[in-house]
Amino acid sequence: MNITRRGFLQGAIGLAGAGMTTALAVPALKTLLPPPVTRCNDDDAHETLTYKSESGKWYENMGGSVAKKEDFNLWDVAIVNWAPKNLEQELGACEIQLALVKVPAEPSMNGLGVSVDDGNAYLMAYHTYKCPHLCCKPVFSAEGTSTISGNDYENMFLCPCHLSLFDPLSVIKNVDEQGREVMAAELLEGPAPYGLPVVPIEEKDGGLVGLMTQIDWLKYCGQG
Ligand code: FES
Repeated sequence: MNITRRGFLQGAIGLAGAGMTTALAVPALKTLLPPPVTRCNDDDAHETLTYKSESGKWYENMGGSVAKKEDFNLWDVAIVNWAPKNLEQELGACEIQLALVKVPAEPSMNGLGVSVDDGNAYLMAYHTYKCPHLCCKPVFSAEGTSTISGNDYENMFLCPCHLSLFDPLSVIKNVDEQGREVMAAELLEGPAPYGLPVVPIEEKDGGLVGLMTQIDWLKYCGQG
């Protein structure tokens, strides 16, 4: 086949144009792709719940050690780190923080928490890492007055961003925005779409561990 000079030039210009388009498109496409998943170090993984180092808290000298049920009095709350091996694959995070609380026993806590004090209390873990509304971090509040209803309250989780109030004693079945059933601390007021999920825990080798069995309950706010 004879290739004329004009045809050759047209072909060359076309190829250069395609190359330039590709060169421009690749960076543009890269901005559309999700950032690469963080690579968690398997050696740092732990299913145990370990105390976060926080000064001024009752567990401040226990930072990094495994939480044990004997450490808690009724209504003691501790922020603990949880970093099981498959957390990155499931939630895209190497480690998350939960609120571990010793609460008076309620029947709905059976199978979710660790029963203590001859069945009169439970250790329970709540997903204070992200509020189901717009992903802030609810905090435990021993007492206060709601600025929404004006009602006084005791022993609640309060989200600082839009004041959703969650009752850790009332663990009920909720339905999340994807239609999944989630056991969560009941939403009493505020704009959250449903309650604050619990993370099932159990005792193993004398320490408390978080279970991955209901990890879907935590898949919101960009997790999972
Ligand atoms: S983010 Fe928690 S109430 Fe809005």
